[in-house]
Amino acid sequence: MKLLIAKDYDELSTRAATLVIETVKQRPVAVLGLATGATPLGMYANLVQSYARLEISFTQVRTFNLDDYVGLPRLSPDSFYQYMHRAFFSQTDVRPENIYLLDGTAHNLTDECVNYERYIEEVGGIDLQIVGIGRDGHLGFCEPGTSFESKTFVAKLTESTRQANAGGLQSLDEVPKRAITMGLSTIMSARKILLLANGQAKTDILRQALYGPVTEAVPASILQRHPDCTVILDALAAGE
Ligand code: GLP
Repeated sequence: MKLLIAKDYDELSTRAATLVIETVKQRPVAVLGLATGATPLGMYANLVQSYARLEISFTQVRTFNLDDYVGLPRLSPDSFYQYMHRAFFSQTDVRPENIYLLDGTAHNLTDECVNYERYIEEVGGIDLQIVGIGRDGHLGFCEPGTSFESKTFVAKLTESTRQANAGGLQSLDEVPKRAITMGLSTIMSARKILLLANGQAKTDILRQALYGPVTEAVPASILQRHPDCTVILDALAAGE
């Protein structure tokens, strides 16, 4: 595991974007695994700027997002579908047909999960998977206790995750209780993983995930077993 400590959120965001750009320059047909949440927003903003300066093109890139809510319409501003279009897709040349997003409104969620795994396999696997970390150590929506062997599945969200992700939704009641997410084994099968975390609220869980025992009680601890994982933290998240 390679650990980089950025002095602040801006530096974390530029470093993360640089890594994505290097990946796409080396392999213009790269398959990117993308994450949502507050953490990667600065990275997306940097990618959009690089694209606007004609430094990079995403026209051949394929993208697979980690997760989305079950039952939240795709047009809801709080869906990860909308987040991704706002933050990245609509501002770059990623082709709509190269964008893969789990559909939490699909009629048959089991088929949705199975098909997603098949699509990832068909494109030859994910080259670079970006992940954030939940305050309880979750990756995607793989909550504590999720099997390390899990493939894309429908997850039940914990109360704390629902509260942390309330976003623009008016009340906790509106936050979906389930999500559809890549499994931990799906995430681990990416050739490279980039974990991003900023802010003091993540310090404690990062210590457990990066230096504690590898246990399903802390889903992100599985990253210790990945052969090519880079972690970028800002100074606040890195703590002492
Ligand atoms: C959500 C997402 C995760 C993300 C986490 C942390 O639960 N499903 O993929 O890593 O939130 O979000 P934030 O970056 O806002 O702290």
